[in-house]
Amino acid sequence: MRIVIKENRYEASSFAAETIAMQLQKKPNSVLGLATGSTPTLCYEQLIRLHKEHYVDFSAASSFNLDEYHGLSPDHPQSYRYFMQQKLFDHINIDISNTHVPDGLNENPIQACADYENEINAHGGIDLQLLGIGRNGHIGFNEPTSGLQSRTRIKTLTQSTTHANSRFFGDEEFQPELALTMGIGTILEAKKILLLAFGKEKSAAVQTMIEGALSAYCPASALQLHPDAIIVLDREAASRLEHIEFFIEVEEKQQALMKSLNLS
Ligand code: GLP
Repeated sequence: MRIVIKENRYEASSFAAETIAMQLQKKPNSVLGLATGSTPTLCYEQLIRLHKEHYVDFSAASSFNLDEYHGLSPDHPQSYRYFMQQKLFDHINIDISNTHVPDGLNENPIQACADYENEINAHGGIDLQLLGIGRNGHIGFNEPTSGLQSRTRIKTLTQSTTHANSRFFGDEEFQPELALTMGIGTILEAKKILLLAFGKEKSAAVQTMIEGALSAYCPASALQLHPDAIIVLDREAASRLEHIEFFIEVEEKQQALMKSLNLS
């Protein structure tokens, strides 16, 4: 794991957007794994700016989103397909037919999940996967105790997650308790992973993910196994790390080394 600690969420989001832009420069037909929630929105704003001002080109790229609520149509304002259209796809030059979000309305969600896996494989796998983290350590909708080698499937959300996400739903509105999500095994197959976490409400999950034991109880701890996972934090999200000074020093030394080798 590479731990990058930025002063605030704006700097952290710029770093993430630049990493995605570099990926597209290196490989214009990259397969991007995308995430929803409040965390990636600033990164998407930065990507839109980079597209408009610096012509970062998405025309050959394709995307796969991590998850979708079961029972919400793509035009439901709380569906993740709707979120992606509003926050990113409508503002960049990605071909919408190359964007994929699990089908929350499919009458056979088990088949829909298997098809999603096949589609990812048919695209040659995910080059760069963007992630947020839930307060209980979930990634995608892989709640605590999710299998560390799980694949895309339909999952029951925990009360803590439905409660955290209830802020987006009206009082009387139907709020799904099931979701289709890439599995932890699916996520770990991405060639590069970029996880963002901001704010003190994420600090406990962040500490367990980085410094705790590898455990299904903290699904994000599975990233300890990944050879190229970058964890990008603001100061608040990093505040409970016991080894924060060491992580800062490692990153500084790494940057200096890259610079001396002309690699940064
Ligand atoms: C949801 C999503 C996750 C996201 C998490 C955190 O449950 N399925 O992908 O990481 O919420 O959301 P937020 O970024 O709003 O804190």
